[in-house]
Amino acid sequence: MKYYLGIDVGTSGTKTVCFNESGEVMTSKSYAYDMTVPKPGYAEENPLDWFTATKETIKAVTKEGYPISGIGLSGQMHGLVLLDENDQVLRPSIIWCDNRAINEAEELVHNFGNQRMQKITGNSVIPSFTLSKLLWVKRNEPEIYKKIDKIMLPKDYVRYALTGSFTTEYSDASGMQMVDIHHKCFSKDILDYMGLSLDKLPRLLESSEISGYIKKDLAEELSLSEKCFVVGGAGDQAAAAIGNGIIERGDLSLVLGSSGVVFSPIHKEDIEDNPLQIFMHAVPNTYHIMGVTNGCGLSYKWLKETLFESTDYNTLNEKASASKPLANGLIYLPYLNGERTPHLDPYASGTFIGIRQNTKDSDIIRAVLEGVSYSLKDCYSLLPKQQYHIRASGGGAKGTLWRTILASAFNTPIERIVQDEGGALGVAILAMVADHIYPSVKDATDKIIKVLDITEPNKNWIEQYSKGHELYKDAYLSLKKYYKKAFEI
Ligand code: XUL
Repeated sequence: MKYYLGIDVGTSGTKTVCFNESGEVMTSKSYAYDMTVPKPGYAEENPLDWFTATKETIKAVTKEGYPISGIGLSGQMHGLVLLDENDQVLRPSIIWCDNRAINEAEELVHNFGNQRMQKITGNSVIPSFTLSKLLWVKRNEPEIYKKIDKIMLPKDYVRYALTGSFTTEYSDASGMQMVDIHHKCFSKDILDYMGLSLDKLPRLLESSEISGYIKKDLAEELSLSEKCFVVGGAGDQAAAAIGNGIIERGDLSLVLGSSGVVFSPIHKEDIEDNPLQIFMHAVPNTYHIMGVTNGCGLSYKWLKETLFESTDYNTLNEKASASKPLANGLIYLPYLNGERTPHLDPYASGTFIGIRQNTKDSDIIRAVLEGVSYSLKDCYSLLPKQQYHIRASGGGAKGTLWRTILASAFNTPIERIVQDEGGALGVAILAMVADHIYPSVKDATDKIIKVLDITEPNKNWIEQYSKGHELYKDAYLSLKKYYKKAFEI
């Protein structure tokens, strides 16, 4: 029997899971770190924290004695990591949910052209993508910009530290807004606009290609063999999709993590102007469309820490059950970090509407679950019309109430799988494919993944959530102007 690690470098922490070649969990360890918010709209993390978390979790897992053949890395997408020529981190990473680069995104729209950008990268310009963040550094921190020797994404920083390999793979790289997704290379037009040479960017690999081997000194420290390889891996959403068996058209991955994501694979010929985002999947030559609500788990975490004295999520879920659908007239808009889909609006902020004398704490919790669900319904409504086979994952999917709200709002059953390891399993599968345990990712997921349960819509809630969703959409439209003015003040 062979063993593989899936390492997920997330927003709230890093998780390392050891799987056997049948995809069974042997052991796992998580390590939390903090996101800092130096100003409204900003979000930063320290790359050294990711590496410490990776090392500590690997050590805790390898202590149990499983000989590890290979490693897959999954990571929060779009974050900007900058190294100087001595490989020192030049500044904290500006992460995915940071929206500071509003002016730079506007500059790209006007000077480079949004349509041109969409044609090359599949996506409109937005402040969340790495390119706008890099331009922000160029415009606001020229001294740092001058010292840049290497530009990388969060999980690829961890890879570089583990193996010395300066590489990335297509799924995560396509979220930088610097890759020509049709020709699978960094776009010369975009690099020319930035005045950037290709050698500052990582080499592009397939997700199940071997990127390098654990450095000698680390192999000893981490109780790994020097023969232990690290595969390309995937951006966290593509990784979670693989870990849930979301490979073909009509499959849909619904991720309730820090961000909330609706993700569905497409083929090259399906790429067209689309209000959703388009990235490359971690299966060779496939793509996916994706809608992202920035404040999913981040909303629930904010609620827990700010209003409920860190009461655990199970207790919060139970309390929310005491409220009724539509949360006693309370509506929540989950725009704590602006929004990505369907409103590309960095100015939007989190909002409760409808607080009354009789509003209870249970209503507040339920309104948050419902508000995030409406936002995900917004994303779902933008997918090409067809019947979707939905699988939910991420911390939020553990709550039966939240799944039932979502199934009712979408009016579609939602499956969960037995293996609850999302991204970590996805990238471990990529390592197994690299090691020829399985001939393809599809073959691996068909053999490994098993359905745990199916949550059906609650018939009595469908109509109510349809009305609630209309009200929610109106609320954003009424507040749009206010958000911008409030942000400027
Ligand atoms: C995807 C996205 C988030 C982050 C953090 O586009 O921004 O999913 O990767 O999870």
